[in-house]
Order: sequence, then C-alpha cells, then structure tokens
Amino acid sequence: MKVAQFSRIGFIMAAAGSAVGLGNIWKFPYMTGEYGGGAFVLVYLITIAFIGFSVMVAEMLIGALGRRDTVSSFERLAPPSQPGWKYAGFMGFNGLIIMTFYSVVIGWIFYYLFEIFSGLPTSTEAAKATFDNLVANEPGIQIFWHTLATLIVTYVVYRGIKGGIEKTNLVLMPALMIILFGMLVYAFNLDGFSKAFEFMFAPDWNKLNSEAIVRAVGHSFFTLSLGMGSIMTYAASLPKHTSITKAAFIVTFMDTLIALVAGLVIYTFLFHEGAPAAQGPGLVFISLPVVLSNFGILGTVLALLFFLALSFAGLTSAVSLVEPVVQYIIDRFDTSRFKAVLIAGSAYYLVGIGALLSYTKAWGSTFSIGGKPLFDILEYTTDSILLPLGGLLIAIFVGYVLQKERVYAALEHEMGEKYFAIWRFSIRYIAPVALIFMILNLMGILKI
Ligand code: PHE
Ligand code: NA
Repeated sequence: MKVAQFSRIGFIMAAAGSAVGLGNIWKFPYMTGEYGGGAFVLVYLITIAFIGFSVMVAEMLIGALGRRDTVSSFERLAPPSQPGWKYAGFMGFNGLIIMTFYSVVIGWIFYYLFEIFSGLPTSTEAAKATFDNLVANEPGIQIFWHTLATLIVTYVVYRGIKGGIEKTNLVLMPALMIILFGMLVYAFNLDGFSKAFEFMFAPDWNKLNSEAIVRAVGHSFFTLSLGMGSIMTYAASLPKHTSITKAAFIVTFMDTLIALVAGLVIYTFLFHEGAPAAQGPGLVFISLPVVLSNFGILGTVLALLFFLALSFAGLTSAVSLVEPVVQYIIDRFDTSRFKAVLIAGSAYYLVGIGALLSYTKAWGSTFSIGGKPLFDILEYTTDSILLPLGGLLIAIFVGYVLQKERVYAALEHEMGEKYFAIWRFSIRYIAPVALIFMILNLMGILKI
C-alpha cells in the first residue's frame, strides 16, 4: 500500500509536533529542577547535539527509504540474509504503551484547563490537595478526560496523514509557539528572569551525579521522539526532494528551543515568587498555578494560555504515538484506517484506564505489580528501556546493516563529505556505545 505524502512544511510541522510534547513543557522543566539546573541542561544539550541529532537523521532515513510502516520498511531495507530485522519495526508498538499514560496526562491537562475558570489555588497545600485528590480519588473524572483525549487523538489519526495529522499540526504548532514566545517576552520583564536564566545555564557541577547523566541521555531520546518509529512513520510520507538533514536539524532545533523557553518561563514565574526549584512532576500542576494566582486576573489568563499550549503539545505528540501502529495494521492486514484506529485506540485506552486506576486509593493495589503502580511501570519501561533500545537498533541498522553506498547516496550531497563522515562516526560509534552503556546502567548491570 502506498502512503500519502506530506507537504514539506507539513512534514516539518508534523515531526516537530511529534517532538515537541509533554516532554518539553512538563517533564524537562521539572527534571531540570530535580537534577540541579545548568549542569543537567548542559549534558542534555550535548547529548542532543552529538547523539540525538544523528539518530534523528538515521530514523528519518529508514522511513524515507523504506516508504512503509516501520515493520515493512525494515524488512524492505534489510539484506535478504538478515530477515530478522523486520522485528525491529515492532518498536512502533511502544507508541501504544507510551499512550497509556500520555493520554491520562493529557486528560489531567484538560481537567486543569477547565478548572482554571473556577479560580487558581492560592496556597501550595490547596494546589497539592486538588492534584492529589484528582489522582487518588477521582477515577471517574480522570476516565472522562482520558476518554475525551482519546476521542480527539484517534479522530485526527483517523483523518489520515494529510487531512488529519498535517492539518492539525499546521494549526496547533504555530499557536503553541506564539503562546510560549509571548510568555517568554512577558517573563523577560519580570524580576525572576535573570535568576531563571542563571539557574538553567550556569552549571553547578557539584550537583551533577551519574543518575542525572543517565536521565539526561534518556530524556533526549524521549523528547526528540526517537527510537519508536514515530519519526520513521512520518518520514515514510516525506515529500520527494526534501533534505533529510535539514528537516532533522529544524526539528531538533525547535524541540530544544521550546524546552528551553518552557523552562525559562516556568522558572521565571517560580523565582519571581521566591518558590524553590525542585518540585518534581507536580511542578506545572501544583507549583505553577499557585505562583500564577499572585498575578491576579493576568495570572488566570497566563495559566489558561500555558495549559492550552501544553495540551496542544501533548495532542500533536499523541497523534504521532498512535500513527505507527495504525500504519502497520493498514499496510500488513489490508484493513481500513477506521478499523486500524479502532483497534489501536481501544488497546491503549483500556490499558490507560488501568494506569490511572493504579494511582487511585481504591484500586491502587489491584493495578500494581510488586508494589509498583502500573502507571510507573509503563512509563519507566518505555522511557528508560524501550526507547534507548529502539534508538540502538536504528543506529546499528543505519550504521552497519544498510549498504554504505545507499546511505552515502542519500545523505552525502546534503551534508558534504566532511559532515557525512562525522555523522557516520556518530551513528556507528558514539550513539551505540552511549546507548548500550545507558541500557546496561538502567538494567542495573553496570553501575556508574
Ligand atoms: N517527544 C514527545 C515529548 O517530548 C514524546 C514522544 C516520544 C512522542 C516518542 C513520540 C514518540 O513529549
Ligand atoms: Na519533546
């Protein structure tokens, strides 16, 4: 089956929409706070520059050459002597695992968007109570918003590459950028800005430990949507005569820029009110609303815009998490897009209910394994193990399995001799070594 094609700007926005997600606006800022600021940011930036970007090019290349769903693309590009590579294409299924909790978090964002109208909490205790109550005591409310998120996401995917994914991203991505950059301009004029800037860009090496390094590397994959076939699936619809190198560069750049802007904005507000940096995952759900409540009506508007941007970021990423499996079902089983979306959508939707129940008081123990809530298990396994593993397979495949001449023919004229050599070195040596090291570390086999 031939897949539809993006327009060039449609592809860039869709890939950027995939990359720019909850990872940038929710996760990156709180991780920066948890792991001590500047030093963590620097490790993250170095990883993006030396590994993330190279793997982004490699993943786009597989899609652009394979032109099908992830399984078929690997199958088509692998040499006949190595048919097993097609199983690497099943990395696309990680998207559904990620969606189980990603959709729940988008649901929380919807709930907050709605709740803002009844006033922002004025104390941390009140804000914490709201968030904790939602998560621990309100499975019904969470299921309602999780359902709404699922309906929106699956509808967009159902409308397909052009009519759904491209269209949505062409609207939501510019809107998100306008909101965030507008907030940056506002933040720039507040007292907290210079402190926020210093916190994020002046590295304090004493705060950097091995855990922070591993988390920074892991997050750079998650944030760029690498290692699970989202970028690959989109690149299968890459319009002809589009520079992969340029597209990968723009997407990587946008993702990084938006994470930094989100961090600056949030920390400016926080420091403006003298709140501490280390807040954990509750940062945007608990601390930020309280801080903004001090800004009066303007704070309400800022909160509304912020959660709106966050929901746009989440939705455009969610769509890219579902599309790989949908593409796979359509291509391999010759089913309609509607059926494929129904299957993929119900699978993550149902497990997602289990994930949200695992945080509730009433059902927590039922949906936990070995004392760990299902939510955490799903997040940890994908983020920390399956994505790096997918990235490793991509690096090895492009670095060693795909014929050098093919890779050369596709990229050399885009990069030039010298940069091609550097990129290839990164994909053959730097990325695999870093990723193997990381996976072993996370599995507890190798402790640094
Ligand atoms: N990149 C997205 C984010 O930052 C998450 C994501 C991961 C999306 C993997 C697609 C694939 O939130
Ligand atoms: Na991201």
